[in-house]
Amino acid sequence: MTELAIEVHDLRVAYGDHVAVDGADLTVARGELVALLGTNGAGKTTMLETIEGHRRADAGSVRVLGLDPGRERLRLLGRVGVMLQESGFSGELTTWETADLWRSLRRRGGDADAVLERLELAHRRDVPVKQLSGGERRRLDLAIAILGEPEVLFLDEPTTGLDPQSRRRTWEVVGGLVENGTAVLLTTHYLEEAEALASRIAILDRGRIARRGTMAELVAGIAATIVFQLPAGAPALPPLTAQVTTGHGDDVVAETTEPQQDLRTLLDWADAHRLRLARLRVRDGSLEDVFERVAHEQEVAA
Ligand SMILES: Nc1ncnc2c1ncn2[C@@H]1O[C@H](COP(=O)(O)OP(=O)(O)OP(=O)(O)O)[C@@H](O)[C@H]1O
Ligand SMILES: [Mg+2]
Repeated sequence: MTELAIEVHDLRVAYGDHVAVDGADLTVARGELVALLGTNGAGKTTMLETIEGHRRADAGSVRVLGLDPGRERLRLLGRVGVMLQESGFSGELTTWETADLWRSLRRRGGDADAVLERLELAHRRDVPVKQLSGGERRRLDLAIAILGEPEVLFLDEPTTGLDPQSRRRTWEVVGGLVENGTAVLLTTHYLEEAEALASRIAILDRGRIARRGTMAELVAGIAATIVFQLPAGAPALPPLTAQVTTGHGDDVVAETTEPQQDLRTLLDWADAHRLRLARLRVRDGSLEDVFERVAHEQEVAA
């Protein structure tokens, strides 16, 4: 049994002249969740669909559970769950009929009622799918993808359009599968979702993986930020190690690798001058900062 559930090497996928995935490497181990992030059009869905075997690679290799998903799709069918970015279920069937139809198509089908219960859709069981709300439909997509506890699960923006409570419920369900050994490859625009769920994160930028690593690795070396508002007529700031700029409105933004030292200097100075720094806040380097850097590099390169 291979430890790696998904292995992608030097993948390239083009739509005519447009190269959507341009030499990407990626692995996902059993019992691991990897988040694939990137701006709109970065190539996430294209990459996922190719690994799922729905789209042909132009170059490179893809292995899912040691098999070629393009050529050996049937052998993978019962072992892999897929949640597409947009689903196309018939609206006429009820929630339960839809889940049961999919169950019947799976070798290890699982239990339609149990899975609806798990995604808090049991009360909507006999409602035609077309009458479900957007968020309920998204949960039905997930319910179907996880039928029979697949060994590999692909989730393309699973929580887009979900209310905060449903999003948390989804995280619990997906987290539970990972604990039971499912390998999950997920895309999301919610950075906190990647932070909460992923053991590793890859940031895709115009078809290339611009960053990859654990959350700690990605934010290592990214400065902390101290933000505050200076009262009118305040004297010049004391010398700080931080790089000081102005942000939204009257905000002073100090980016620093020595937040503790700079904060002390700043507060001592404010006390000495009897100043009150309004809306003072300090935050650590975040995934959002990493994202901004990738975007900035993109602008510089363009
Ligand atoms: N069927 C298609 N034919 C031609 N070009 C396509 C097709 N599907 C996607 N593209 C293009 O390929 C690029 C990557 O698209 P893709 O859908 O993979 O991005 P994404 O990262 O999933 O974006 P999003 O966050 O908006 O879902 C985009 O430039 C897109 O316009
Ligand atoms: Mg997409």
